[in-house]
Amino acid sequence: MSMFDLTGRVALVTGAGQNAGAGIARALAAQGAAVAVNDLRPERAEATCAEIVKEGGSAVATPFDVTDLEAVRTGVARAGEMLGGAVGILVNNAGIPADMSYGPFRDLAPERWRGPVEINLFGAMNCVHSVLPGMREAGWGRIVQISSGAGRTGLSIGVSLYGSGKSGVEGFIRHVSQEEAPAGITANTLALGLMESAGGPGVKGMADGIPVGRRGRPEDVGAMVAFLVSPEAEWLTGQTIDLNGGSVTR
Ligand SMILES: NC(=O)c1ccc[n+]([C@@H]2O[C@H](COP(=O)([O-])OP(=O)(O)OC[C@H]3O[C@@H](n4cnc5c(N)ncnc54)[C@H](O)[C@@H]3O)[C@@H](O)[C@H]2O)c1
Repeated sequence: MSMFDLTGRVALVTGAGQNAGAGIARALAAQGAAVAVNDLRPERAEATCAEIVKEGGSAVATPFDVTDLEAVRTGVARAGEMLGGAVGILVNNAGIPADMSYGPFRDLAPERWRGPVEINLFGAMNCVHSVLPGMREAGWGRIVQISSGAGRTGLSIGVSLYGSGKSGVEGFIRHVSQEEAPAGITANTLALGLMESAGGPGVKGMADGIPVGRRGRPEDVGAMVAFLVSPEAEWLTGQTIDLNGGSVTR
């Protein structure tokens, strides 16, 4: 049997309708997982599913808003029913609100503070809380949180709110990893550097400084996540790992 085989596993990837999330969903499907492709926008989730199925993989679209706990609970249950088993692999990738606010904190009105924290921190909590019972019952689970360098390094590109949500969820995942390790569940965070798809101010200057000489691609993220959720990664938990072309080393 080849390494990193996910045959028989059921995975849920949030925000997987495009870019990094779509790359993750495709990679997990290529390793044999049956994938529930989530996105806020149903047509994006359907598009990723169609690509996976075209490549011979197994996927269903499960659109919902990760910030809505009831919708998450229902979506997780439906994913399990449609794919024939409880979700054993959760990848919290949704993390950029549709109306993402950029700017120095001093200029951001209080009404804009919650959005980036809501999706990154409470969105992750909603999903983790919904999948843990099934993982614990199975005695096996894999949780991967997608974060950003902005959660680990102070930057002056107007992302303090987003960085707060990312730092918060990194802390949350560390605690979950300790609580759930005895149950066979690992939880790790992958902090991405600048992706090809990135928007917002300050992108050009940052891109020039990446030692590997290019920005990140969906398949870079997919390959790393495929390893993190594999049976072989059983001893890797509680960590935040930078995937960034060498832009920051720790
Ligand atoms: N793009 C970058 O350079 C970069 C850098 C570091 C980290 N990240 C992180 O990587 C992840 C993916 O980033 P991306 O650039 O591929 O994102 P993206 O915005 O291109 O795609 C994310 C998808 O999430 C969906 N989404 C938004 N809100 C949602 C919600 N409430 N519930 C469900 N789905 C929702 C969107 O519809 C979209 O299709 C995010 O967590 C982001 O913070 C991205």
